[in-house]
Amino acid sequence: MPPASAPLTQKSEWHALLQHKQQLEQVLMRDLFQSDPQRADRYLIKGAGLTLDFSRNCLTDETLSALANLAHACGLPQRIADLFTGARVNRTENRPALHTALRQPHGASVWVDGTDIMPEIHATQARMEQLDRAIRNGTQTGHTGRAFTDIVSIGIGGSFLGPKLAVEALKPYWQGNLKCHFVANIDGTDIAETLRSLNPETTLFLVQSKSFRTQETLDNSLIAREWFLTNGGNQDAVADHFMAVTANSEEATRFGIHSDNIFPMWDWVGGRYSLWSAIGLPIALMIGMQNFRALLAGAHAMDCHFNEAPTEQNLPVVMALLSVWYNNFWGAQSHAVLPYDEYLKHLPEHLQQLDMESNGKKVTQDGNPVGCETGPILWGGVGANGQHAYHQLIHQGTRLVPADFVIPLTSHNPVGHHHATLFANCLSQARAMMAGKTEAEAVEELTNGGLDLNAAKTLAPHKAIPGNKPSNILMMEKVTPATLGALVALYEHRTFVQSVIWDIDCFDQWGVELGKQMGNEILPRLIKDGEAGSAGDSATDNLVTLFRSANRR
Ligand code: F6P
Repeated sequence: MPPASAPLTQKSEWHALLQHKQQLEQVLMRDLFQSDPQRADRYLIKGAGLTLDFSRNCLTDETLSALANLAHACGLPQRIADLFTGARVNRTENRPALHTALRQPHGASVWVDGTDIMPEIHATQARMEQLDRAIRNGTQTGHTGRAFTDIVSIGIGGSFLGPKLAVEALKPYWQGNLKCHFVANIDGTDIAETLRSLNPETTLFLVQSKSFRTQETLDNSLIAREWFLTNGGNQDAVADHFMAVTANSEEATRFGIHSDNIFPMWDWVGGRYSLWSAIGLPIALMIGMQNFRALLAGAHAMDCHFNEAPTEQNLPVVMALLSVWYNNFWGAQSHAVLPYDEYLKHLPEHLQQLDMESNGKKVTQDGNPVGCETGPILWGGVGANGQHAYHQLIHQGTRLVPADFVIPLTSHNPVGHHHATLFANCLSQARAMMAGKTEAEAVEELTNGGLDLNAAKTLAPHKAIPGNKPSNILMMEKVTPATLGALVALYEHRTFVQSVIWDIDCFDQWGVELGKQMGNEILPRLIKDGEAGSAGDSATDNLVTLFRSANRR
């Protein structure tokens, strides 16, 4: 028997799954449902206010225990303990990844290098609360004494997607009349269109950047400051209108942000896991600190579930193992996240960064090739809209696309029968993916509709739907701060568990660095006077010339 530390694809548990997959290949989910009336109940698990129905998967009890065996062979319980206790799980950057500490309640202690980090986390939350209150009751105003009406969050990647998701998802909890805008892109249209409608006297800018070195964020912040200064603001008033959330307070101060207006970040929080920190300020300012604390509490409840629930009852673990199952044993190349809720429309974007920046890696923690596929392409969009667009490919295309449907049981907007119709659409999609329609059924349907047998047989292959397409349905009572917190934390842990199976570092992102580096080399060639010089290849040089002539350089 290979040792416990054998590479993933040489583990006996991996081979057991390969064999098991062969047995399951000819089994249809619709038959599994027929032969087992308890199936729906057995594959329904709950945690932290969320319910996962994973009965519509190519899976039996044997599959589940074989996947659980693989997880244990990969050391999952120890790796979970390492994550929560501040071990340096981000090995290539030699750091812990302690986003879970950000949602720990008072009374908890989490140690990093001999220091309990909880007092600083809670002190930062107290400052957020103070700011929220002061803006709300009008004691903190713009430089002319007028109350703030708009906040502009300038940040990109993790310093943008999580806050944007939560602000939009929690719209029913917005308090007061504040409006929140997000500027991320270096496309000038983003900042220009945002500033167009704003009044500098009543606008507060939050510069959100862990590193305070991200070009998009810094350039947009400079434009915002220039706009402020040329529209009635003055240098002293910058302190009233610009705040920063960063781990690099020196650079923020150099930018002109008053030290009192700098909220801390820490190197043990990854950008894509940072919405729980002061990066969540736009959320807190829009929904109030009490609701922000409920968001943290929901995430913490999911942390507890992840820590405590047995493997086969553990939502993030089961979802991660199912993803590994399809990714590595059934050849799925992508995974769809389909929120059936308008408020959750930005969920796929946030999860895309979370999952793909985390698990888009090809070497193990030791730097050896992983030896199998890693993170699938995560994509998706809001239902039912997607049904009239890309669901066709899921139902009848040649590729396998496992999907997560995410739907609340009740709506914030009970308009007519809309929510029942939405729910029916979600259930029917999952059922159609699972059961499909055989050619014989299609023929019968067509002949019953009056078509002659020959014509029905010609049309039937087009109308037949293979079925056996896996999906999960993830439900919550309602989209609330607590259930949203649990939902996002669930996907964070799902991402982590997959990385444990593949033995990759899900907390670094070296791949994005090369593009940034090359961007810095190309930019001067586009804007400098005189000869551009070569960027190193003729393809880039040609387009540099094209750009320069279009922009008269
Ligand atoms: O582009 C990658 C990235 O490093 C993300 O991981 C991060 O969230 C984003 O850039 C923004 O970084 P920062 O918060 O340092 O500006």
